[in-house]
Amino acid sequence: MLVAANWKMHGSKAHIHEFVDGLRLVEDVDVVVFPPSVFVQELVQCAPAGLLSGIQDIGIQPQGAHTGEVAAEMVAEVGGTWSIVGHSERRIMQAETDDLVATKASAAFRGGLRPIVCVGETLSEREAGHELAVVERQLAAVLDRVDVNDLAEGAIGYEPVWAIGTGKTATPAQAQEMHAFIRAQIAAESPRAADAIRIVYGGSVKPDNAAELFSEADIDGGLVGGASLKADEFSAIVSAADAVGKG
Ligand code: PGA
Repeated sequence: MLVAANWKMHGSKAHIHEFVDGLRLVEDVDVVVFPPSVFVQELVQCAPAGLLSGIQDIGIQPQGAHTGEVAAEMVAEVGGTWSIVGHSERRIMQAETDDLVATKASAAFRGGLRPIVCVGETLSEREAGHELAVVERQLAAVLDRVDVNDLAEGAIGYEPVWAIGTGKTATPAQAQEMHAFIRAQIAAESPRAADAIRIVYGGSVKPDNAAELFSEADIDGGLVGGASLKADEFSAIVSAADAVGKG
């Protein structure tokens, strides 16, 4: 199981220390925290053994004249190990295309980071019955650019846009349906990669709904926004992942 904390544009050095002091890790759940990029190094330096850190987005080049961008190689140099790519807030607010997201996933691996590649449909796409087609298109772009066996070292985050920060969670059945669909797409290229890859759910995951979501066969953890800012709430989600006993 993999449980990730997406802090978005929240946090401070003081918050990192308070969070780390209150966090309860467990042996069988990988935990990654994504603070704002400027704080990744601070988190790495004070993280207890087993707590991983990463960046919420990366540039596509290793270095060069790209003002404001941060390369995966630079994140790796300060001890980060993961990167979120393709979060819907970036797809929508920064107009990131499927192809750019796929290029970022590939750049993450080039620089030594594991990406969590986010996919997910908007409310209007779901209401029009297009959710499977949208996610299929988003994932196909990634599979075009990244070897499926490499991708298996990273993760897919299924985050229905209508469930992010809204308090509306996908039902466990809705999430499971999409996770199984994603796994089948990966299995069509490599059954081994489909077994290995972690497909995590994101969208209003909270301590009181985490266990139910994580019990679904194809849900391998969570990508948590709002509820990841408080060590207590986030730790409760980590222990819910542990309690389902999938390892
Ligand atoms: P949320 O955010 O848990 O606040 O809905 C999830 C995310 O955007 O990754």
